[in-house]
Amino acid sequence: MSIHDLVFLTEDASHDAAINHINEEAFGPGRFVRSSERVREQGPHDRRLSFVAADRGEVIASVRMTPILAGTVAGHLLGPLAVRPSHKNLGIGRELVRIALAAAKKSGSPVVLLVGDPPYYAPLGFKPTKPGALTMPGPFDPHRLLVACLGDVDAMALEGEIRHRDLV
Ligand SMILES: CC(C)(COP(=O)(O)OP(=O)(O)OC[C@H]1O[C@@H](n2cnc3c(N)ncnc32)[C@H](O)[C@@H]1OP(=O)(O)O)[C@@H](O)C(=O)NCCC(=O)NCCS
Repeated sequence: MSIHDLVFLTEDASHDAAINHINEEAFGPGRFVRSSERVREQGPHDRRLSFVAADRGEVIASVRMTPILAGTVAGHLLGPLAVRPSHKNLGIGRELVRIALAAAKKSGSPVVLLVGDPPYYAPLGFKPTKPGALTMPGPFDPHRLLVACLGDVDAMALEGEIRHRDLV
């Protein structure tokens, strides 16, 4: 089994059940208390920037992107990112992040934020944010709040509340 045997598709509603299963398997019921999940429940994700990987018709990995404001800057929150255990360490997670970032850049989004492990995301273009400058509706480790700057934005200048763009 190699990554070249897979197809990468833009997410649509027919993928929802498989994605829910993958995320439940990866994160368990505790996933709903994570601060990034608090933001995600404020409004819908953007399917045009969300992708799945399929192996012979079966969805085995997913990445979602949610439109947010980081202070006054409009961008996206990446996640959840999850790969089924049967398909880990084949480069699928990294490829989904690369595809999502390319799509976000093409759409004109200047920043993509996420809460995640720096060693995994740094080689994919994510940098630290200024610790304490950005808030979310719940606690998180500020050293795990990372940003990929796709436009003319200074990561260290981002400040304010991270919230869904639909939230008034
Ligand atoms: C994290 C996850 C998405 C990685 O997907 P994947 O397709 O297996 O990863 P890739 O094949 O792209 O990359 C594998 C490499 O990343 C490393 N890696 C995996 N998870 C890592 C982590 N949390 N921190 C640092 N490195 C990590 C692996 O050790 C491997 O390193 P190597 O290339 O030197 O051998 C997947 O393991 C997963 O679904 N985990 C559970 C959910 C999760 O934690 N999601 C991320 C939330 S931030």
